[in-house]
Amino acid sequence: MKYHVPVLLNESVEGLNIHPKGIYVDATFGGGGHSAAILSKLNGGHLFSFDQDSDAKQNALESEWFTFVHHNFAYVKNFMQYFEVEAVDGILADLGVSSHHFDDAQRGFSFRFNAPLDMRMDRSVKKSAADVVNEYDEQNLTRVFKTYGEIANARRLAQEIVARRSESPILTTDDLKRIGQRFCNPQTESKYLSQIFQALRIEVNNEMQALKDFLVGGLQILKPGGRFVVITYHSLEDRLVKNFFKTGNVEGELSQDFYGNVQTPFVAISKKVIVPSDEEIKENNRARSAKLRIVEKHG
Ligand SMILES: C[S@@+](CC[C@H](N)C(=O)[O-])C[C@H]1O[C@@H](n2cnc3c(N)ncnc32)[C@H](O)[C@@H]1O
Repeated sequence: MKYHVPVLLNESVEGLNIHPKGIYVDATFGGGGHSAAILSKLNGGHLFSFDQDSDAKQNALESEWFTFVHHNFAYVKNFMQYFEVEAVDGILADLGVSSHHFDDAQRGFSFRFNAPLDMRMDRSVKKSAADVVNEYDEQNLTRVFKTYGEIANARRLAQEIVARRSESPILTTDDLKRIGQRFCNPQTESKYLSQIFQALRIEVNNEMQALKDFLVGGLQILKPGGRFVVITYHSLEDRLVKNFFKTGNVEGELSQDFYGNVQTPFVAISKKVIVPSDEEIKENNRARSAKLRIVEKHG
């Protein structure tokens, strides 16, 4: 099975405005689709591609101008310092999980297969989805389902989980699926279960904090005139990226100079958010929720 089909490939790589001798970061290497396209435009430059999942290493590209970094993109600034790179010409991130995560039954990301409730992208971290489901108190579980899954009856779902686990631990995707099925009807089941699984995945992988750290670090290492290109897949991360690109901070607060002029580190390259064409969505259903934003750091 194919590891991953890259989404908005041409639009995002064009957005980087690549110089053949430039230095670029692909924060989310995955199957390497975006990285291969970036690398094909380099001649003497360098591409550093991050992925926290060791499975992605199998796709590493053979080139003297390529370095695979098996780490969390939250530390992008530290790693660039480690590689003695002062500033980069462009950064791309294609957020979330890859098709490989959903299709590998054993990883526990999908309710299509019965598997241990894992959902860790980086399997060296301790906390799995089973730990969240069995150890968080009702209030904390409600927060996760409400904030990261935007689930309307989050509290009732959390209460049910707490009641069930006192009888026996919830250890598999099927255990969780059976609980979720009690709170939805067959027409909405797939959407509802996706929201539950998405919420847990975001919590397990600390995705929102990693994204914040990445955006802040990325802005610091980007050269003036450098491009920041991000593809998001759900409203929480899209809102964060949109506000960061507008204001240059994760709080999304506009700052003004003495004369009242708004201070912002970026110029928008795509005035409006870019979404995949109907044709792309038809060929790759996983592209359907993608949103691409492109900015350039003030020169
Ligand atoms: C949507 S896929 C990227 C697919 C890739 N653009 C391609 O063309 O194949 C996202 C990838 O980013 C990785 N990832 C997600 N969050 C990460 C993080 N905080 N640090 C490093 N890698 C991360 C995942 O393991 C996954 O392989």
